[in-house]
Amino acid sequence: MRVLVSGGAGYIGSHTVLSLVAAGHDVVVVDDYSNSKPTVVGRLEALSGVHVPVHAIDLTDAGKTERLFAQERIDAVVHFAGYKAVGESVAKPLDYYRNNLDSTLSLLEAMRRHDVHRLVFSSSATVYGEHAPVPYTEDYEHLSSSSPYGQTKVMIERIMTDVAAADPRLRVALLRYFNPVGAHPSGQIGEDPQGIPNNLMPFIAQVAVGRRDKLTVFGDDYPTADGTCERDYLHVEDLAAGHVAALEHLDDMVAPVRAFNLGTGTGTSVLAMIQAFERAVGRELPYEVGPRRAGDLPAFWADPTRAQTELGWQAVKTIDDMCADTWRWQQANPQGFPDA
Ligand code: WQD
Repeated sequence: MRVLVSGGAGYIGSHTVLSLVAAGHDVVVVDDYSNSKPTVVGRLEALSGVHVPVHAIDLTDAGKTERLFAQERIDAVVHFAGYKAVGESVAKPLDYYRNNLDSTLSLLEAMRRHDVHRLVFSSSATVYGEHAPVPYTEDYEHLSSSSPYGQTKVMIERIMTDVAAADPRLRVALLRYFNPVGAHPSGQIGEDPQGIPNNLMPFIAQVAVGRRDKLTVFGDDYPTADGTCERDYLHVEDLAAGHVAALEHLDDMVAPVRAFNLGTGTGTSVLAMIQAFERAVGRELPYEVGPRRAGDLPAFWADPTRAQTELGWQAVKTIDDMCADTWRWQQANPQGFPDA
């Protein structure tokens, strides 16, 4: 299929582009480079051996989005594009609602006008909110998130569900990611957050490569085995494979719209992740324990059964794979992707 990947120059989008090409699909990328760099595309072409066409437009511009669909033959869309920083979304809710919702609405309208009926959406485990029983299962109904970022994911899942109810041709997979980490084994692409990393793994990697002095562990007094929070980390290569599996199963789904957890089903603590990264680097890494971060939940992980039974997908990479691949990427790219 010819697949439009929105946000295809981003962290998860770029890894998914490679997996789609490896699975025999053609890819077109649309990305406004608001949280990615054009140099990623050159890396993708070098790694995949194919030309990757890019439309550098803002999907909130309905006119430009329409012109993209008029120019390109598209069979399916994988929709990653969106702002994703939880803390920033609390400070700038209007930016997040405007960007994440308008880009999705433009996309859905253009898909309808051009008879594109296959859609895979990048959702998040954050939609389960604070009260869902762990492990999270897809049939949990009280979806709500504590951040405007997470709420955009809840709203977009609802929008897609309603649009599919009105158009029986539409097939939508809602992929709820847990904690994506790691990098392509080549070390040529990986997670490259701009500014101070919000997330654990890129922060640890920047400490290891000498860009940051030390990691602050946000609290070690949680009701968990070692007192630090536990999360379901999954390798971005496994996550990319999950997108290919979902795309290729869209026409066979038991319902027109279907949510799938993409996780390992296992929780790993912050301290355990630090120790795994130290094994990858071969030395101890400096950290100190600080206060809890507002909004952090003690522990959650996926029940990945549905993706296993309905998509034939399961995560296979280990925590040590995640750390070794992240470290290879960070060592080869201490400052992340070049600007040009
Ligand atoms: C993991 C653990 C922190 C940084 C977030 C978003 C979620 C999704 C994934 C978009 C927590 C601890 C972190 C640090 C630390 N993003 N930590 N020191 O919060 O589980 O999920 O990213 O979809 O929506 O909420 O991931 O990596 O930020 O934190 O101790 O410098 O690491 O407290 O326990 P999180 P995270």
